[in-house]
Amino acid sequence: MISTELKEGTKDAHIELEKIVVQQLKAIQTSEDYARLLKYFYAFFCEVEKAIAPFMTSEVVPDYSERRNASHLKADIEALGGDVRKDIPRATAPSISTKYQALGALYVMEGSVLGGRTIVKMLEKNNIHTGISFFSGYGENTPVLWGRFIELLNQQITGDEHKRQAIQAAKDTFTLFAVTFRDAAVLH
Ligand code: HEM
Repeated sequence: MISTELKEGTKDAHIELEKIVVQQLKAIQTSEDYARLLKYFYAFFCEVEKAIAPFMTSEVVPDYSERRNASHLKADIEALGGDVRKDIPRATAPSISTKYQALGALYVMEGSVLGGRTIVKMLEKNNIHTGISFFSGYGENTPVLWGRFIELLNQQITGDEHKRQAIQAAKDTFTLFAVTFRDAAVLH
């Protein structure tokens, strides 16, 4: 099943990215620090959302409009007094030219909801309670929405070539997100 293969195939990439994000979270002392971190997520999610948009039809992901996206990041940044038009890091999305690659990239973004609970707890330890809508994900509905998404992946990605495309795109998505943090280049 592609869901298991995606999990296995991106395990190392997840560990790498998690390390970077945890390091960033531990360094947060103020709301400004937190808004700066959110801008990395915002920059990257905007790029990935643009790249996958042509494939997000109602047949492929029927509940796409209900799913968490960069607009939550924008709302969180603004709740912290930040401005999404300023100091946005440079981010590059993986190249997406098939539905299978788009679903692989979406797997990474949807999966990040699962780690969100831990992230919210880490933020609370640093006394950050504002601007947490993105990391709060779907709250108690998270298991249901994740389950529905996994089912969709398993139904739509079956052949070897399609699986290969999805796994490669998911790996690229993890890696390019890590690169966004490493580059730390500000675009505008
Ligand atoms: C502090 C940072 C992070 C922590 C502590 C974390 C933790 C976790 C945990 C505990 C799970 C498993 C949850 C479960 O099975 O119920 C998970 C799954 C996942 N996370 Fe993260 N995560 C972090 C960041 C991220 C980020 C930034 C992304 C992507 C942008 C990401 C993508 C994923 C994906 C795709 C899965 C699904 C794995 C599967 O197929 O089951 N995570 N994460």
